Amino acid sequence: MIVEPSPVKTHQMIRDARRRGLTIGCVPTMGALHDGHVSLIRRAKSECEFVVATIFVNPTQFGPNEDFSKYPRTLESDLQMCRDAGASLVFTPQTTDMYSPDAETIVRVTRLSTVLEGAHRPGHFDGVTTVVSKLFLITDPDKAYFGQKDFQQQLIIRRMVTDLNFPVEIVTCPIIREPDGLAMSSRNRYLSPEERRTAAQLYQALLLGEKLAKETQLEPAEISSHMHQHLESAGGIQVQYAILANTSSLEPLTSRAGHSQAVGLIAARVGTTRLIDNLIVSL
Ligand code: PAJ
Repeated sequence: MIVEPSPVKTHQMIRDARRRGLTIGCVPTMGALHDGHVSLIRRAKSECEFVVATIFVNPTQFGPNEDFSKYPRTLESDLQMCRDAGASLVFTPQTTDMYSPDAETIVRVTRLSTVLEGAHRPGHFDGVTTVVSKLFLITDPDKAYFGQKDFQQQLIIRRMVTDLNFPVEIVTCPIIREPDGLAMSSRNRYLSPEERRTAAQLYQALLLGEKLAKETQLEPAEISSHMHQHLESAGGIQVQYAILANTSSLEPLTSRAGHSQAVGLIAARVGTTRLIDNLIVSL
């Protein structure tokens, strides 16, 4: 496995692999890898001959009061996990390799990036789409792998790839969870033991939404308020949103009529840690 911080050298190595006839899979990450990330690399390895994982804590997707400076950085164990999962190359740029001080170009998906996560984290998705565009241009993959964990993110990337004719197939991979249902996240390590126990209620609220959708005739807004109540009654959880939304527009579902499925989406603070989770539910 090669570890390479230079965008130019990474591009050259991938071009050489492509010339040798290999298919290229790309797995963008911010490091602090866990089994969720590993599942993406393994999936890429099962479908592509040359897998490049990228590790870059992208400053432009963090708000001024967010956790950029304290975001966990665990490069040595990340590289071991990439190696074990079958990556061929890990691209590990520094901020100065990715952004020139006078850069002024951004890629923006105009509507999808302003709702839900975008409303709570202004500018976040501009940072994501800009860096992912750059990563796609540097790594020129046939396929790129994203987690359903960040449901809105993978939808926005799909929109961007379609709108800008990126010759990349986006593959969305299932959410990997802890035994109690908590979705794995690099940010889970911020939780105290008590907060960690409380955090499992996000998944429980999603399961409640799924059950109510399946077993009752409650309308989406009523189901959302049951999910809300579940979270509020757990104590120690500050809900930002808990809704059933259209799986492609992310608009809150106003009625079951004409819909066979929805996505339950939750964002909440547990202590000072902001967590998100989601579940596709049948209606
Ligand atoms: P990061 O949070 O490191 O996540 C990298 C990828 O791993 C994303 O596609 C994310 O959805 C996926 N992932 C995270 N937790 C997962 C889980 N429990 N199960 C399955 N997949 C999971 O998302 C980002 O980084 C950044 O925004 C990035 C796309 C790299 C751009 O900077």
